[in-house]
Amino acid sequence: MDSIIVTGNGPLSGQIPIAGAKNACLTLMPATLLSEEPLTLTNAPRLSDIKTMTQLLQSLGAEVTSMQDGQVLVMSSHDIHNHTADYDIVRKMRASILVLGPMLARDGHAIVSLPGGCAIGARPVDLHLKGLEALGAEIELKEGYVHARAPKGRLQGGTYEMPFASVGATENVLMAATLAKGTSVLKNVAREPEIVDLADCLIRMGAQIEGAGTSTITVQGVDRLGGATHPVVTDRIELGTYMLAPAICGGEVELLGGRLDLVRAFVEKLDMAGVDVRETDNGLLVKRRVDRIQAVDVVTEPFPGFPTDLQAQMMALLCTAEGTSVLEEKIFENRFMHAPELIRMGAQIDVQGGQATVVGVDRLKGARVMATDLRASVSLILAGLAAEGETIVSRVYHLDRGYEHVVGKLESVGAKIERVQGS
Ligand code: EPZ
Repeated sequence: MDSIIVTGNGPLSGQIPIAGAKNACLTLMPATLLSEEPLTLTNAPRLSDIKTMTQLLQSLGAEVTSMQDGQVLVMSSHDIHNHTADYDIVRKMRASILVLGPMLARDGHAIVSLPGGCAIGARPVDLHLKGLEALGAEIELKEGYVHARAPKGRLQGGTYEMPFASVGATENVLMAATLAKGTSVLKNVAREPEIVDLADCLIRMGAQIEGAGTSTITVQGVDRLGGATHPVVTDRIELGTYMLAPAICGGEVELLGGRLDLVRAFVEKLDMAGVDVRETDNGLLVKRRVDRIQAVDVVTEPFPGFPTDLQAQMMALLCTAEGTSVLEEKIFENRFMHAPELIRMGAQIDVQGGQATVVGVDRLKGARVMATDLRASVSLILAGLAAEGETIVSRVYHLDRGYEHVVGKLESVGAKIERVQGS
C-alpha cells in the first residue's frame, strides 16, 4: 500500500484544475441502463470509483468505453443480459446500489447486493427501497440481496415523502420514476448539485422532470428514453478541498473551473475564518487575509448547508486556528476518524459523539498517520502541508477513490509532496 509524504513548505501559489464530480458521475453512469441508446459523459473524473462502476455496468452487459484518458465515457446498454449486481463489486463501492432503480425501471426486475456499511457508518438503503415501493415495486431481501420486481412489468407513478433528504435515495428513485407509468411526486428530497446534474442529463435523454434542486421533484413517466451527451458537473468537494490548501499554508491559489454557487455555505465559513474567495474568469481565487485563521463553528447539513464531505478537511484548517471551534457532524454517525490522526500531529481535539471540539494550536508537527476513509485521508494531507517537518500518510488507496493526481495538483502550486510505493 502506497504512502504519501508531505512536508510543510510555506505559502502556495498557482492554479489547480478541478475535475468533474465523482458523486455526480457515479449516478450519471447507471443512468445509461435507462436507455438502449448511447449515453456519453464528458468531463468525467479519472478515479478508481469510476473504474469500479465501469466494471459493474459491464458485468450487467453494458458497454462502457473510456476515451481521452478517461475524461470521456461512452456507454451503451442495448443488451442487458444480467440483472444481478454481485456482492463482490457492490461491497467495494456503496454507490453500486444506484443500478437498482434504473435496472428495475427498464426491465421490471433487478437483484442487487446490499452494499453493507463502511468506515463512516452503517449506511443502510431503507429509503431507497421504500421509495421504489412507492412506485409499485415489490422488494424482498434474501441472503444479503435486494430482489426487486415490478408486478405489472412496469413501475407505476406514485408519491414518496422521504423522512430526510437522502442523496442516494433521491437519485435511485428519480431515475426509476422517469420510466414509471404516470406521474411521480418526490418530497423532501436531496437538493445537492449532483441531483440537479442528474436531472439535467435525464432531461437531455427525454425525461420529463421539474423541481430538481428543490425539495419536491415531479416526474412525468415516459415509455422510453433516448441517448445524450452530458458534461459532468464540477466536483464541489474536490474544489473545497483544494481551496483549503492556501487557507492552511498562506499564499494565493486559483481553482480552475471552480463555481461559487456550488460552495456557498463553505465559502461563508472560510470568510469567517479569515479567507478571501473571489470569482475570476477561470474559477475561484483563494487567499488568506489574516496572519492566523480564526476559529469558526461548523454544522454539517444536506445541501445547501455545509457539506459533510468537507468536514474533515475543514477540521484540518481549524486545528491551528486562534480560538476554539466546534464541529457537529449530523449526517453520518462516525465521521471523525481523522481526529485521532490529527491529534498525533499535535492537534487538540475532543470528540463526544457527533461533536468535535478543536482548540487551536500554533502549529502542527509532522507524524506518521493513517488514512481511514476518502475525506479523512485528504484532511491529513492538508494538515501536513503546513505542519513542521514531515508527515507520512499511509493507506492512500482511499485517496485514489476520489482525488485524481492529488500529488501532482498540490506539487504544481509549490507543495513539497511525493508518493512512495508501499510495501
Ligand atoms: C452521498 O452518499 C455521497 N456519495 C456521500 O459522499 C455524501 O457524504 C452523502 O451523499 C451526503 O451528502 C455519493 O454520492 C456516491 P445519503 P449517500 O443517502 O447517498 C443515511 C464521499 O466522500 N441513510 O444522503 O449514501 C446514511 O446512513 C461520499 O464522496 C439511511 O439511513 O448519502 C447517512 O447517515 C461519502 N437510509 C445519511 O442517511 C438510506 O436509505 C445520509 O446518507 C440512505 C441513507
